[in-house]
Amino acid sequence: METTQPFSIVAQTALKVSTGVISNQSGEQLGSFAAPKIEILTTPQTLWAQTVDRIEVPFAKEYDQEEYFNNPALTMMGFYELRRIIRSLGVPTPQQEDYYSEPLKGQKCFVVGTGPGREIVWYSIFGASVSGLDATSKYLEIAQRKVTLAQEYLGRQLPVDRLYQCPAESFSWPSKEYDFVSCLFGVLNHVESWEQTLATICNSVKPGGKIFLSMYGQNEALVFELRGQLGYSPSILQRRTEGGILLGESSDILPANFPLPEEVAEVLQAQGFSDIMASGDLALAALFPQITTKKNLELFKSLIAQTEPRLGNRIKAVNDADELLLRTFIYEQKIPRPLQDYAYIRFEGTKV
Ligand SMILES: C[S@@+](CC[C@H](N)C(=O)[O-])C[C@H]1O[C@@H](n2cnc3c(N)ncnc32)[C@H](O)[C@@H]1O
Repeated sequence: METTQPFSIVAQTALKVSTGVISNQSGEQLGSFAAPKIEILTTPQTLWAQTVDRIEVPFAKEYDQEEYFNNPALTMMGFYELRRIIRSLGVPTPQQEDYYSEPLKGQKCFVVGTGPGREIVWYSIFGASVSGLDATSKYLEIAQRKVTLAQEYLGRQLPVDRLYQCPAESFSWPSKEYDFVSCLFGVLNHVESWEQTLATICNSVKPGGKIFLSMYGQNEALVFELRGQLGYSPSILQRRTEGGILLGESSDILPANFPLPEEVAEVLQAQGFSDIMASGDLALAALFPQITTKKNLELFKSLIAQTEPRLGNRIKAVNDADELLLRTFIYEQKIPRPLQDYAYIRFEGTKV
């Protein structure tokens, strides 16, 4: 397991853990650099894709500013997710000095479903040359602005090439082009034809290159099992429902597929990926409360004691919210559970 520094320290790093905002504490402006261009290729066409777009547009700003920060377990996951990817790309201990030494320089990557741009900022800051797409233009505008701010802070042009508005299923995927492709946090769940789309994405990875996926699991996992007993809102934003997910308090169903991990791994294998790793995020940690009052933290500890007595014992005297979450998160990384207990499933593979 990587760092065990307390989460509050992690959250203070200049590169915000999940949204990808990089900030200059002095507020000084270092220069003016060209923003990455947004190219509109295809707007969402099918009823499914148009429904996803309609629900995503008004949600984009909220997602960027609030989702992770109002959901501490998602923030924790977002940070570790990107750190793991950077490590897997050969940077053993990613840190701020790497923003300047650019250890991923020379690598070409593509981000499928940029959302508000955290992956784009992370990869480009470490030196990789990045392009990406999203079906929803609002997200691309947020990502573009974030890259511009990061450039000003760092005082250099970041290697972000094009941002395309295009549903993943309609993109003209090149063949064997990228050193790595990343498609995180449920993007693929929202693609109606996820299997065919994943196959074409896979084909765009060079031999020796890598793919990183993270997807919603089939249900809310342990949260789903224990929902009646929680007594508070858990740190999971997307409630699963028949045919999709419900964002926040909305009752408008955002269409989504929930393939089994075996089905995703099968596509990766068929497309020539080996060393496929599937692992989960947020099982016990998903039970962590969104609002960390003393009462909610006590309820959380009693649920953990019931579900995982060994961890329950270790955290019973801990009262600090960040520390409780960090210990829980690290525990479930060290002692993995069955994949169906996790709310999010990560996949990684290397193209032969
Ligand atoms: C939960 S966000 C994840 C964003 C980002 N990958 C991250 O990890 O922060 C899901 C994103 O998928 C995008 N999306 C949904 N359907 C898509 C499709 N068919 N093609 C491309 N992007 C899509 C949405 O617009 C949204 O930006």
